[in-house]
Amino acid sequence: MMEEIKKDIDKIIVSTEDITKKVGEISQKLIADYKEKDVTIVAILNGSLVFLSDLIRQMPFSMRLDTIGADTYGSQTFPRTETRLLNSLKLDIQDRDVLVIDDIIDTGKTLKKVIEDVTRYKPRSLKTCVLLNRSHRRQVELEPDYCGFQIGDEFVVGYGLDFNNRYRNLPYIATLKAECYSKR
Ligand code: IMP
Ligand code: MG
Repeated sequence: MMEEIKKDIDKIIVSTEDITKKVGEISQKLIADYKEKDVTIVAILNGSLVFLSDLIRQMPFSMRLDTIGADTYGSQTFPRTETRLLNSLKLDIQDRDVLVIDDIIDTGKTLKKVIEDVTRYKPRSLKTCVLLNRSHRRQVELEPDYCGFQIGDEFVVGYGLDFNNRYRNLPYIATLKAECYSKR
């Protein structure tokens, strides 16, 4: 039951209402920039799933969708040194306009790795869109082209983001009570 996971929440960082509003704003920008481009969206799994599904349903024009799996955290709240890509693209993106979507940019290593992989296939243009940005933790030089919210140091879950593969289904972004990080 949702009540069962809600009791693990410490603090709501971004409310459902604020997320909905922000997704609307980002989609307006994307509509302006991509409505005539037959964009290919590349979503980084699994974290971007909820953001992606809300966002693309606000974008009423021709597009294609592909996914790349990335594995950074395992069951920890600090990143492993190396991001691992679990697959590459299935669609041909040569000379196409590509938009990469992720839930959050933190050190920037995941997005950078995906950008390197996508660039090999020679897209016409390549931009990035994230819901959350923890810019002070960046370890590579990279800023997203479209971004929802700046957030602080705390590890967050919900709206696609997980801890140990749970909490993705929470309808807002929140921190967990300290004791939740030690239980598996
Ligand atoms: P980066 O490679 O350090 O930029 O980390 C980005 C990836 O780590 C994202 O794709 C997220 O899935 C994951 N991540 C980073 N911060 C958090 C967090 O606070 N909660 C859940 N996942 C996170
Ligand atoms: Mg991720």
